Amino acid sequence: MDKLISVEAVAATEAGAIAAARLMGRGDREGADHAAVEAMRRAMDEAEISGTIVIGEGERDQAPMLYIGEKVGNPDAATEVDIAVDPLEGTNLVATGSPNATVVMAAAEPGGLMHAPDTYLRKLIVGPQVAGHVSINDPVETTIRKISERLGREPWDITVVILERPRHDKLIAEVRATGARIKLIGDGDLTAGISVAVSGTGVHAVMGTGGAPEGVLTAAALKCLGGEIQAQFRWRSDEERERGRAMGVDVDDADRVYLTNDLASGEEVVFSATGVTDGELLRGVRFFGGGARTHSLLMSYKRGVVRFIDTVHTFDSKPPKVRL
Ligand code: FBP
Repeated sequence: MDKLISVEAVAATEAGAIAAARLMGRGDREGADHAAVEAMRRAMDEAEISGTIVIGEGERDQAPMLYIGEKVGNPDAATEVDIAVDPLEGTNLVATGSPNATVVMAAAEPGGLMHAPDTYLRKLIVGPQVAGHVSINDPVETTIRKISERLGREPWDITVVILERPRHDKLIAEVRATGARIKLIGDGDLTAGISVAVSGTGVHAVMGTGGAPEGVLTAAALKCLGGEIQAQFRWRSDEERERGRAMGVDVDDADRVYLTNDLASGEEVVFSATGVTDGELLRGVRFFGGGARTHSLLMSYKRGVVRFIDTVHTFDSKPPKVRL
């Protein structure tokens, strides 16, 4: 299953990225998101899979396409998969031409990805060397010390990514007090969460509260990379809590910590992300006359494969212009 879905997944994220990238810098976050959704949906419909969207653009009443529960692909296909998508992670980033916007998709055997409503998760994300050695319930100072010890660094050699939001003022002050460096981001804790598990990106942890759908997708990526996410639901309203309950989340246990394997429990998890704008992890889409070049990360948990894929796409019948 994972071989087939890998090919389809990267085709879908590449299509979404090219469509969204066309609208870079136009100040139209919704238009860019819509373009990515339509392109991904078209790509998925050509796939020989019987897919169900478990994380998508929202509930059926909010989203015309890629909504939770929507069937994609070919309903008669032999391969059944659950699919999580973030057709455009960082809609504002594309609207303003800022770095690190990506198109993301994960897939697994049915039941292999948590069904999470569009609410918030409090998150602690670390890379493979630190996985299993920290707790989201520890004070920030303890967490930074443990990360430093595991990485053989001083706290001031650690960089923590935090979404720049008023709700994080206390967290930011606590991290600053440890001496660790902070990278405040406007959007995109999913892309940052993947970067933590890839050496050389210069990011060592993500802390704070962000989207729950992004949390499940981060878990799928970290499962393939050996990193760790720890997360607690942070409901913003009774309506969200009820949606969570209907999806099977134990909404009455606010302290429960969900680990990578709770959010992405599948044995056949596949993850694909394609850059829309340039970032630490992936290059953005580059257009040339008659085509475009994309940069993607495609991973399979079962096969232990991590591929960085550099693809040239042509939009006309001429041979592709290829250069290194
Ligand atoms: P969009 O791509 O949907 O705009 O979301 C980006 C994002 O920054 C996520 O990376 C993050 O998890 C979430 O939004 C944070 O939500 P909020 O903007 O409400 O703080």
